[in-house]
Amino acid sequence: MTTGKFIVFEGPDRGGKSTQANLLRQSLHEAGYSVLLTREPGGTPVAESIRKILLDPANRVTPRAELLLYEASRAQHTEEKIVPALAEGKIVICERYTMSSCAYQGYGRGIDMELINTANNIATNGLTPDLTLVFLMSDKYFLKRGEYLFSDRLELEKDEFRNKMRQGYKELVKKTPNAVLIDADNTVEEIHAKVLAYLREFKVI
Ligand code: TMP
Repeated sequence: MTTGKFIVFEGPDRGGKSTQANLLRQSLHEAGYSVLLTREPGGTPVAESIRKILLDPANRVTPRAELLLYEASRAQHTEEKIVPALAEGKIVICERYTMSSCAYQGYGRGIDMELINTANNIATNGLTPDLTLVFLMSDKYFLKRGEYLFSDRLELEKDEFRNKMRQGYKELVKKTPNAVLIDADNTVEEIHAKVLAYLREFKVI
């Protein structure tokens, strides 16, 4: 039984999720809310160890092993961190959650979506977000950023993988309850205002 609110920030890498998550934490804190900001993969010591395995460019991780490592990290993080914070009535802001596995391992790697949904359910014990905000930048900006900034194992994937994953997000937003798309090309201030507007619309605040 949860009493808090669970918000997830999603989208391809470098879309400004972390900046916006930090801004939101600050705004909510100033407004008197008790907030937990956390991220996947990671957020607990065990989950952070799994994150290192997943993101190390030196590792060759098979697609199914990759999925299960993300799910193992998710299971640990959800039970150890998210569920207790929600039980305390906190607003939990989590960078990435189940939709990332659907976008990256499903649309990107081509693993069957039914399998991923089952794995997501096992990892989360059925906990779903009250609101998922998907940050998506335009194609031009996405590719330009990719040229210069990508460095970890997932980010170094070729354009084909990253384009499939990105298109996947567009479809996932339509299929997922309580999920909305945010235009990540706008200014930091404009995006922050939009985020707050969605929190009000979805009765998170
Ligand atoms: P981050 O850079 O946003 O912290 O995420 C690490 C990378 O892991 C990022 O490239 C997305 C990827 N990822 C997946 O492929 N599947 C998942 O389920 C999650 C949570 C992240």
